[in-house]
Amino acid sequence: MGNDLKSVLITKEEIDAKLAELAGRIDRDYQGRDLLIVGVLKGAVMVMADLARAVSTPVTMDWMAVSSYGSGTRSSGVVRILKDLDTDIAGRHVLVVEDIIDSGLTLSWLLTNLGSRGPASLAVCTLLRKPEAAQVDIDVAYVGFDIPNEFVVGYGLDFAEKYRNLPFVGTLAPHVYGG
Ligand code: PRP
Ligand code: MN
Ligand code: MG
Repeated sequence: MGNDLKSVLITKEEIDAKLAELAGRIDRDYQGRDLLIVGVLKGAVMVMADLARAVSTPVTMDWMAVSSYGSGTRSSGVVRILKDLDTDIAGRHVLVVEDIIDSGLTLSWLLTNLGSRGPASLAVCTLLRKPEAAQVDIDVAYVGFDIPNEFVVGYGLDFAEKYRNLPFVGTLAPHVYGG
Protein backbone atom coordinates (compact mmCIF):
# COMPACT_ATOMS: atom_id res chain seq x y z
CA MET A 1 0.00 0.00 0.00
CA GLY A 2 2.74 2.46 1.01
CA ASN A 3 4.17 2.70 -2.49
CA ASP A 4 0.77 3.22 -4.12
CA LEU A 5 0.40 6.65 -2.53
CA LYS A 6 2.33 9.64 -3.78
CA SER A 7 1.53 11.93 -0.87
CA VAL A 8 -0.88 12.78 1.90
CA LEU A 9 -2.89 15.74 0.63
CA ILE A 10 -5.22 16.32 3.59
CA THR A 11 -4.64 14.81 7.02
CA LYS A 12 -7.29 13.32 9.28
CA GLU A 13 -6.81 16.28 11.65
CA GLU A 14 -7.39 18.77 8.82
CA ILE A 15 -10.54 16.90 7.76
CA ASP A 16 -11.87 16.85 11.33
CA ALA A 17 -11.25 20.58 11.77
CA LYS A 18 -12.89 21.43 8.44
CA LEU A 19 -15.95 19.30 9.13
CA ALA A 20 -16.35 20.98 12.53
CA GLU A 21 -16.27 24.36 10.77
CA LEU A 22 -18.81 23.29 8.12
CA ALA A 23 -21.03 21.74 10.81
CA GLY A 24 -21.06 25.05 12.67
CA ARG A 25 -22.23 26.86 9.53
CA ILE A 26 -24.86 24.20 8.85
CA ASP A 27 -26.14 24.50 12.43
CA ARG A 28 -26.56 28.24 12.02
CA ASP A 29 -28.13 28.03 8.55
CA TYR A 30 -30.64 25.31 9.41
CA GLN A 31 -31.49 26.40 12.94
CA GLY A 32 -35.05 25.38 13.83
CA ARG A 33 -35.47 23.46 10.59
CA ASP A 34 -35.97 19.82 9.88
CA LEU A 35 -32.93 18.77 7.87
CA LEU A 36 -32.53 15.69 5.70
CA ILE A 37 -28.95 14.92 4.71
CA VAL A 38 -28.54 12.77 1.63
CA GLY A 39 -25.29 10.89 1.15
CA VAL A 40 -24.21 9.81 -2.29
CA LEU A 41 -22.93 6.25 -2.04
CA LYS A 42 -20.36 5.05 -1.78
CA GLY A 43 -17.85 7.88 -1.63
CA ALA A 44 -19.77 10.07 0.80
CA VAL A 45 -20.01 7.46 3.55
CA MET A 46 -17.13 8.82 5.64
CA VAL A 47 -18.14 12.47 5.23
CA MET A 48 -21.75 11.64 6.13
CA ALA A 49 -20.76 9.68 9.21
CA ASP A 50 -18.44 12.37 10.53
CA LEU A 51 -20.49 15.40 9.46
CA ALA A 52 -23.68 13.95 10.96
CA ARG A 53 -21.89 13.58 14.29
CA ALA A 54 -20.38 17.06 14.08
CA VAL A 55 -23.68 18.94 13.69
CA SER A 56 -25.96 19.73 16.63
CA THR A 57 -28.97 20.14 14.37
CA PRO A 58 -31.15 17.02 14.52
CA VAL A 59 -30.92 15.41 11.10
CA THR A 60 -32.39 12.46 9.34
CA MET A 61 -30.20 10.57 6.91
CA ASP A 62 -30.90 8.95 3.58
CA TRP A 63 -28.76 7.62 0.78
CA MET A 64 -28.66 7.47 -2.97
CA ALA A 65 -26.36 5.37 -5.05
CA VAL A 66 -25.45 6.69 -8.45
CA SER A 67 -22.58 5.81 -10.67
CA SER A 68 -20.56 7.92 -13.06
CA TYR A 69 -17.02 6.61 -12.94
CA GLY A 70 -17.21 2.86 -13.39
CA SER A 71 -13.83 1.57 -12.28
CA GLY A 72 -11.69 4.06 -14.20
CA THR A 73 -10.27 7.42 -13.26
CA ARG A 74 -12.51 9.60 -15.43
CA SER A 75 -16.10 10.79 -15.30
CA SER A 76 -18.14 9.40 -18.14
CA GLY A 77 -21.02 11.82 -17.65
CA VAL A 78 -23.32 8.81 -17.68
CA VAL A 79 -25.25 8.74 -14.43
CA ARG A 80 -27.30 5.78 -13.31
CA ILE A 81 -29.46 5.55 -10.18
CA LEU A 82 -28.46 2.31 -8.48
CA LYS A 83 -30.45 3.06 -5.32
CA ASP A 84 -33.04 5.80 -4.90
CA LEU A 85 -34.03 7.63 -1.71
CA ASP A 86 -36.39 5.93 0.74
CA THR A 87 -37.68 9.40 1.66
CA ASP A 88 -40.23 11.62 -0.08
CA ILE A 89 -38.36 14.94 -0.11
CA ALA A 90 -41.31 17.14 -1.14
CA GLY A 91 -41.35 20.09 1.29
CA ARG A 92 -38.17 18.95 3.04
CA HIS A 93 -34.91 20.83 3.54
CA VAL A 94 -32.37 18.66 1.75
CA LEU A 95 -28.59 18.82 1.97
CA VAL A 96 -26.75 16.58 -0.48
CA VAL A 97 -23.41 15.39 0.89
CA GLU A 98 -20.58 14.39 -1.42
CA ASP A 99 -16.97 13.40 -0.98
CA ILE A 100 -15.81 15.13 -4.15
CA ILE A 101 -17.03 17.26 -7.03
CA ASP A 102 -14.78 16.51 -9.96
CA SER A 103 -16.33 17.31 -13.35
CA GLY A 104 -19.56 18.14 -11.53
CA LEU A 105 -21.55 15.98 -13.93
CA THR A 106 -22.82 13.56 -11.26
CA LEU A 107 -24.04 16.29 -8.97
CA SER A 108 -25.45 18.45 -11.72
CA TRP A 109 -27.61 15.55 -12.82
CA LEU A 110 -28.54 14.68 -9.25
CA LEU A 111 -29.57 18.23 -8.36
CA THR A 112 -31.85 18.43 -11.36
CA ASN A 113 -33.37 15.09 -10.41
CA LEU A 114 -33.88 15.97 -6.73
CA GLY A 115 -35.02 19.50 -7.54
CA SER A 116 -37.88 18.11 -9.57
CA ARG A 117 -39.23 16.38 -6.44
CA GLY A 118 -40.20 19.69 -4.81
CA PRO A 119 -37.90 20.03 -1.79
CA ALA A 120 -38.34 23.14 0.40
CA SER A 121 -34.63 23.78 -0.16
CA LEU A 122 -31.77 21.95 -1.81
CA ALA A 123 -28.12 22.58 -1.03
CA VAL A 124 -24.78 20.80 -1.35
CA CYS A 125 -21.95 20.01 1.01
CA THR A 126 -18.77 18.48 -0.40
CA LEU A 127 -15.50 17.71 1.30
CA LEU A 128 -13.46 18.18 -1.87
CA ARG A 129 -13.81 20.09 -5.12
CA LYS A 130 -11.54 20.25 -8.17
CA PRO A 131 -12.05 23.68 -9.76
CA GLU A 132 -9.79 22.86 -12.72
CA ALA A 133 -11.85 19.80 -13.64
CA ALA A 134 -15.28 21.48 -13.58
CA GLN A 135 -17.37 20.92 -16.71
CA VAL A 136 -20.50 22.45 -15.25
CA ASP A 137 -21.04 25.32 -12.85
CA ILE A 138 -22.66 24.22 -9.60
CA ASP A 139 -23.59 26.42 -6.68
CA VAL A 140 -22.09 24.66 -3.65
CA ALA A 141 -22.96 26.10 -0.26
CA TYR A 142 -20.43 24.12 1.79
CA VAL A 143 -17.00 23.24 0.39
CA GLY A 144 -14.28 21.67 2.50
CA PHE A 145 -11.22 21.98 0.28
CA ASP A 146 -10.52 23.06 -3.28
CA ILE A 147 -7.82 20.71 -4.52
CA PRO A 148 -5.58 20.41 -7.61
CA ASN A 149 -6.64 18.21 -10.51
CA GLU A 150 -4.87 15.06 -9.31
CA PHE A 151 -6.28 11.62 -8.67
CA VAL A 152 -7.06 11.42 -4.97
CA VAL A 153 -8.12 8.50 -2.78
CA GLY A 154 -9.02 7.84 0.83
CA TYR A 155 -11.69 8.96 3.26
CA GLY A 156 -14.37 7.41 1.05
CA LEU A 157 -12.69 8.02 -2.30
CA ASP A 158 -11.67 4.95 -4.25
CA PHE A 159 -9.62 3.81 -7.15
CA ALA A 160 -11.22 0.60 -8.47
CA GLU A 161 -12.98 0.26 -5.08
CA LYS A 162 -9.74 0.34 -3.11
CA TYR A 163 -8.38 2.87 -0.60
CA ARG A 164 -11.81 4.09 0.64
CA ASN A 165 -10.90 3.22 4.22
CA LEU A 166 -7.80 5.41 4.46
CA PRO A 167 -8.46 7.96 7.23
CA PHE A 168 -6.85 10.77 5.17
CA VAL A 169 -6.96 12.01 1.57
CA GLY A 170 -3.90 11.11 -0.47
CA THR A 171 -2.75 11.38 -4.05
CA LEU A 172 -2.24 8.15 -5.94
CA ALA A 173 1.08 7.32 -7.55
CA PRO A 174 0.71 7.43 -11.37
CA HIS A 175 1.96 3.84 -11.80
CA VAL A 176 -1.12 2.60 -9.90
CA TYR A 177 -3.56 3.92 -12.49
CA GLY A 178 -1.24 3.75 -15.46
CA GLY A 179 -0.73 7.51 -15.60
C1 PRP B 1 -17.26 9.79 -7.51
C2 PRP B 1 -17.38 10.76 -6.37
C3 PRP B 1 -18.53 11.64 -6.80
C4 PRP B 1 -18.37 11.70 -8.31
C5 PRP B 1 -17.68 12.98 -8.73
O1 PRP B 1 -18.24 8.79 -7.35
O2 PRP B 1 -17.69 10.08 -5.17
O3 PRP B 1 -19.77 11.07 -6.47
O4 PRP B 1 -17.54 10.58 -8.67
O5 PRP B 1 -17.39 12.96 -10.09
P1 PRP B 1 -17.95 14.04 -11.12
O6 PRP B 1 -18.03 15.36 -10.42
O7 PRP B 1 -16.90 14.06 -12.21
O8 PRP B 1 -19.25 13.58 -11.62
P2 PRP B 1 -18.21 7.44 -8.18
O9 PRP B 1 -19.10 7.57 -9.36
O10 PRP B 1 -16.79 7.05 -8.42
O11 PRP B 1 -18.89 6.39 -7.22
P3 PRP B 1 -18.45 6.05 -5.72
O12 PRP B 1 -18.86 7.19 -4.88
O13 PRP B 1 -19.18 4.81 -5.41
O14 PRP B 1 -16.96 5.85 -5.74
MN1 MN C 1 -19.47 9.10 -5.43
MG1 MG D 1 -15.59 6.13 -7.24
